[in-house]
Amino acid sequence: KRVAILISGGGSNMVSLAESMTGDHPARPVLVLANDPAAGGLAKAAAMGIPTAAVDHKPFGKDRAAFEDALQAKLEEAQPDILCLAGFMRILTPGFIAKWEGRMLNIHPSLLPKYKGLHTHARALEAGDTEHGCSVHEVTAELDDGPILGQARVPVLPGDTADMLAARVLPMEHKLYPAVLRNFAAGAREPIFIS
Ligand code: GRF
Repeated sequence: KRVAILISGGGSNMVSLAESMTGDHPARPVLVLANDPAAGGLAKAAAMGIPTAAVDHKPFGKDRAAFEDALQAKLEEAQPDILCLAGFMRILTPGFIAKWEGRMLNIHPSLLPKYKGLHTHARALEAGDTEHGCSVHEVTAELDDGPILGQARVPVLPGDTADMLAARVLPMEHKLYPAVLRNFAAGAREPIFIS
């Protein structure tokens, strides 16, 4: 399977995914695509020998469809079978998602369906949760809402700040996403739960 990974920033999840696709793994990374030409993950991908591309979303202003047409053009060059959104911070329209539904994954830093959207760690602390974590799900038109393919749990500890909690969740993302992708690329859909 050919995997394209979409990023917006440092791409630590992209690195974990790319590093996992070796040996008898059924998938290989064929493109790392960013919505910001300055995304730090692009240099990391290039250093790993993975083809990269960037489509800056800013010149497109509010025209999401035009931005997505440019993304789609880059994707069609790489011909991926699976898209992995990894720290990708743009909301995709139903039109784009419809092209990839069933073949597009996302990682979200909460135990979905709790805390869809942004500031998930602060919201978990605010709610007094004693557990938190991350989820990998299939991307559907509704934000952070598709079928759950895996979750990883971490404890919330007394005195935790949002940054401390985020720092406890991120390494679990780096374990969960590669495990889910390996399953998904092999055709399995049973959700994975780690803690
Ligand atoms: C992190 O906050 C992570 O929880 C979320 O996206 C952000 C950046 O991830 N998935 P990455 O380092 O760019 O993969």
